[in-house]
Amino acid sequence: MIAVGADHAGVFLKNDIVKLLEKEGYEVKDFGTYSDESCDYPIYAKAVADAVASGLCEKGILVCGTGIGMSMAANKVKGIRAAVCSEAKSAEMTRRHNDANILCLGARMIDEKTAEELVKIFLSTEFEGGKHLRRISMFS
Ligand code: RB5
Repeated sequence: MIAVGADHAGVFLKNDIVKLLEKEGYEVKDFGTYSDESCDYPIYAKAVADAVASGLCEKGILVCGTGIGMSMAANKVKGIRAAVCSEAKSAEMTRRHNDANILCLGARMIDEKTAEELVKIFLSTEFEGGKHLRRISMFS
């Protein structure tokens, strides 16, 4: 199951991503927000990060205006490796080398087509392990 969350700046892109994920056959847990009324992104970052860290969801996707606040908040949760990406190579490499378990996107930074491309890459790219496992084990 894939956990998704957004603030008011990311809610429309998040809704698009939910549709994409369902079309691709993923089970989705949508933690909100559900409208464009102003809200506080750390609430949604924590909800998605807890779902991934606990094992309820295998990966997460968070959307805010830049993706930055979401990543900062999500990375406070033990076991979370959240990465902000705005182009394909970063989305690929953060899976291959960092085993990122949450993808953060900036709805004010990238268009819908790019976001969908990054989501697909993030969910289909495997972690390489080996020396990269040693390195991410040094995070905590
Ligand atoms: C909301 O205006 C904005 O600050 C938020 O979506 C995000 O970009 C924070 O990092």
